[in-house]
Amino acid sequence: MSRAYNFSAGPACLPLEVLQQVQADLVDYKGTGMSVMEMSHRGKDYDQIHNEAIAVFKELTGIGDDYEVCFIQGGGSMQFAMIPMNFLAAGKSADYANMGTWSGKALKEAQKVAALRGAKVNVVAECAKDIPTRMPRDGEWKFSADAEYAHICTNETISGAQLKKIPEAGVPLFADMSSDILSCERDYTKFDLFYAGAQKNLGPSGMGVVAIKKELAAKGAESIPTLLQYRTHVDNNSLYNTPPTFAIYVFGEVMKWVKRMGKENLFKLNREKAAKIYAAIDASSFYKGTALPEFRSDMNVTFRLPTEDLEKKFVADAKALGMSSLKGHRSVGGIRATIYNAFPMEGVDALVAFMKDFEKKNG
Ligand SMILES: Cc1ncc(COP(=O)(O)O)c(C=O)c1O
Repeated sequence: MSRAYNFSAGPACLPLEVLQQVQADLVDYKGTGMSVMEMSHRGKDYDQIHNEAIAVFKELTGIGDDYEVCFIQGGGSMQFAMIPMNFLAAGKSADYANMGTWSGKALKEAQKVAALRGAKVNVVAECAKDIPTRMPRDGEWKFSADAEYAHICTNETISGAQLKKIPEAGVPLFADMSSDILSCERDYTKFDLFYAGAQKNLGPSGMGVVAIKKELAAKGAESIPTLLQYRTHVDNNSLYNTPPTFAIYVFGEVMKWVKRMGKENLFKLNREKAAKIYAAIDASSFYKGTALPEFRSDMNVTFRLPTEDLEKKFVADAKALGMSSLKGHRSVGGIRATIYNAFPMEGVDALVAFMKDFEKKNG
């Protein structure tokens, strides 16, 4: 077997032992005589998988029974639409931070809903286009006291900037945590709603994992289609319709892996992995980090080489050595080394050694 060091930003590498467990369970899940893919979502075997996945996620995030964890199809992007559809009512306003590509997309969806309904969207921090890339600073947030909610993104996957300090919004705080959920120490109870597309730190693509305060879900719009209302998912334990059962099962296995690893160990490892690559960047004048040092992401390490031709060669040479997907997002170019929870330290060491060697030969 040969596994690549897969630096993809999502879908991203999953823990090998989880993949192997999934493989072992594939055609006969624990003596049931069938794959999880083939089971009724109303049966007791699936029920246990579903509820255990939720329980471990709640334990790892430290959220209590005032929250419901929902599995909603449509990934992170569906949440960009569902949030304003549920909570941005006519005549009301919501606060949005424009911190990069993803929070910018969330902002645009809210603006669409606001235009349809006669509501207002306030941009409360703006740094999406800044180079070096960064996050809003403490004094820059301009939250409104009367907003229905404030929306932020904790890690901008494309720019490689991460919010190290969560702001006090003074109104219900919602966060897109698609690319750094469960990767670092964080007080999840500060958020009334947080969500992530699963394909980075949580499992397979196509599903959003949403944690929402139950009392908030109950306040959402009732005029929108049933499946788009949070209360539908909350009231039915994400089983109103057929959920993505196999994705939820793999998510549960990833959560159990995080628990076995010990989340503090994992968080420490994440800091160490990122620090090694940033140290290699800082030790050289050939590589230039794209994010301001104080906002450097521990998940997506972005940097540039002196020319685009050299960047192409860097990506191709690395690929030939078994290091894949180092090309930056197509909208910005450059190099992006994504190192989510499941990415191994050996892969980071291989990249750092390669960076030194590449600079020697091409610098
Ligand atoms: C921070 C962030 N939010 C949202 C998304 C969109 O997620 P999805 O592709 O699951 O809709 C992404 C995808 O990369 C992301 O990085």
